[in-house]
Amino acid sequence: MISRKKYARVAKSVPKGFDSPNDFFNYVYNDQDMIWMGQNTNHLHEKDGIMEAMLSSIKKGDYDKYPPPEGFPELKDLIQEDLGLTHGFDSLITAGGTESLYLASNSILDPGDNTLTCDPGYLIIDNFCSRFGEVKSVPIYNKECGYKLTPQLARENLDENTKLIILIDPLNPLGTSYTKEEIKEFAEISEEHGIYLIHDITYRDFASKHTLMAKYAPERTVTIYSFSKIYGMAGLRIGAMIASPDLINSVRTILINDLGTNVVAQKGAIAAVNSKYEWLDNIKSTTQSNQKYIKQAVDQVEGAYLPVYPSDANMMVIDLLNTGLKPVELSDYLLDCGIFVREGSYTSKLFGHRYLRISYSIPTEYVKYFAECFVEGMDALSGE
Ligand SMILES: Cc1ncc(COP(=O)(O)O)c(C=O)c1O
Repeated sequence: MISRKKYARVAKSVPKGFDSPNDFFNYVYNDQDMIWMGQNTNHLHEKDGIMEAMLSSIKKGDYDKYPPPEGFPELKDLIQEDLGLTHGFDSLITAGGTESLYLASNSILDPGDNTLTCDPGYLIIDNFCSRFGEVKSVPIYNKECGYKLTPQLARENLDENTKLIILIDPLNPLGTSYTKEEIKEFAEISEEHGIYLIHDITYRDFASKHTLMAKYAPERTVTIYSFSKIYGMAGLRIGAMIASPDLINSVRTILINDLGTNVVAQKGAIAAVNSKYEWLDNIKSTTQSNQKYIKQAVDQVEGAYLPVYPSDANMMVIDLLNTGLKPVELSDYLLDCGIFVREGSYTSKLFGHRYLRISYSIPTEYVKYFAECFVEGMDALSGE
C-alpha cells in the first residue's frame, strides 16, 4: 500500500452533516442562491466581454486542438505588460496560481532546503515546500508586526539552509500588504543570503497601492499571477508565473501541463486583461466600500473585532475569541442563512480557533444581508 506522505496536510475538517469536504463544496456550489463569501472569489463582473470571448471560442470549436504548451504568446505578453515586467522576464501560463506555486517551489528547492512562510497564510504552499525541508511558519497574528511577515521577522527566523521566502501580498486571510520600503528590504535580504522569493500577488489589484518584488530582486523572484480573483474566473482554473528567463527555464524541466492550459480559459483571460481598465475601478471601489458594512456590524458585537481594517484584499478576518463563540458555530449559523464563509482553521494552524474569514467582492446588498445575519447570529448563539 502506498502510504500518506509525511508532509501531507491534515485533512480539511468535514462540515457538520457532510461525508467529506468534497461533498460540502459540491453542496454549496450547486446551491444557486448561496452567497459566496468563503473563497475570496469575485462576483462583481457584469457583461464586459470575458464571457463573450469564451463563448465565441467554443462556437468556433477551438477546443479540439491542443494550445501552445506554454500559453498563447498574446496572453503571456499581456500579463507581462500588465505588470510592467517585459524586458528581462519570461512567463508561463498555468492552470491557476496554485500550479504556479507548485512549480516554483519545486524548481527552487532541493532536498534539505528550508522555507520561511507565515501563519496565518495560504497553507497549501507550506505543503508544497515541506517535501524538501523544514517550513518555518512564523506566527504573525499580532499588532507588533502589523499582522505580516516583516523583513525584521524574516531576518530573525532565517537559518543557513533557508532557500526560499514566501510573501503573499496582500495576505490571505488578513489583507495586509507590503510597503515599497519593505519590498526593497526583502530584496536586500535575498541578495545578502542567496535566498529566492515567491511573491504571490493573487490579490494585488484589490490593494490601494502595490509594489512588485520582481522590480527590486529580478533574478531571485517568482511572481505568481491568478485569474481567479480580480478577473472573476476561478472556475476556469487559469493563472501564470513570471520570472527571469533562468528561473523559467528551470521550471520548463518540470512542467505538469506539457500539453498546455485550457484554450477557452486562455481566450477569456486575453479578453479579461484587454478590458481590465474598463471595469477595474468599479470592482475595486465596490469591494473596498463593502468593508464598511462589515465593520459597522462587527462594532455592534461585544468582543468581536477586525484585526486589520481596512483590508487591502477582497477578504478580511473577524476575530471572535473574546465573544466566547467558536468560528464553526457562526459559520454553521450563516450557512443556514444561505451564506458560505470560512473558519480560521482553513488558513491557520495556530490561530484558526480565533477567527472567521469572509470575502466581499460580491454585490453590496448581499454584504448588508451578511451584516444583519452576523449581528443576529452572534446574539442568538450567545444566548444559547
Ligand atoms: C494566496 C493565494 N494564492 C493562490 C491562490 C489560488 O489561486 P488559483 O485559483 O489561481 O489557483 C489562492 C486562492 O485562494 C490564494 O489565496
